[in-house]
Amino acid sequence: MNQQVNAELYSAYLYLSMAADFEAENLHGMAHWMQIQAKEETGHALKFFKYIVERGGRVTLTAVAAPPTQWDSPLAVFEQVYKHECHVSSLINKLVELAAAEKDHASEVFLQWFINEQVEEEANASEILHQLKMVGDSKQGLFLLDRHLAQRQ
Ligand SMILES: [Fe+2]
Ligand SMILES: [Fe+2]
Repeated sequence: MNQQVNAELYSAYLYLSMAADFEAENLHGMAHWMQIQAKEETGHALKFFKYIVERGGRVTLTAVAAPPTQWDSPLAVFEQVYKHECHVSSLINKLVELAAAEKDHASEVFLQWFINEQVEEEANASEILHQLKMVGDSKQGLFLLDRHLAQRQ
């Protein structure tokens, strides 16, 4: 779970880096979407932090790896988001398997929230990815999608 704290913080760092790249490309709506995503990932890290402490564990923070800083296109960004979320899902699944093997029922219940969250995360990334594929090379389409993603609360 300490490793998962790091993985969630890396996710936040990755999405913040994507936000920076979108800002540099004047895609402020997409940058806004990524900033909210980064905040959510920090929230996930804190959920694990709190749970480790509640169960009498010791939180140990380790170095967060540097994320990439540039992408070729918005499509390339969201392809990586989708791939990354699938990777995080596999990490959560491994934790569930470990909790089951250890007969740690409390942790299994705790991890259920993350199982559901990952379904949503993968679906959100996949939806935007499909929309970007639909838009193709249309600047107008990209402009509208950027404005749409600016609405994220
Ligand atoms: Fe997360
Ligand atoms: Fe996520």
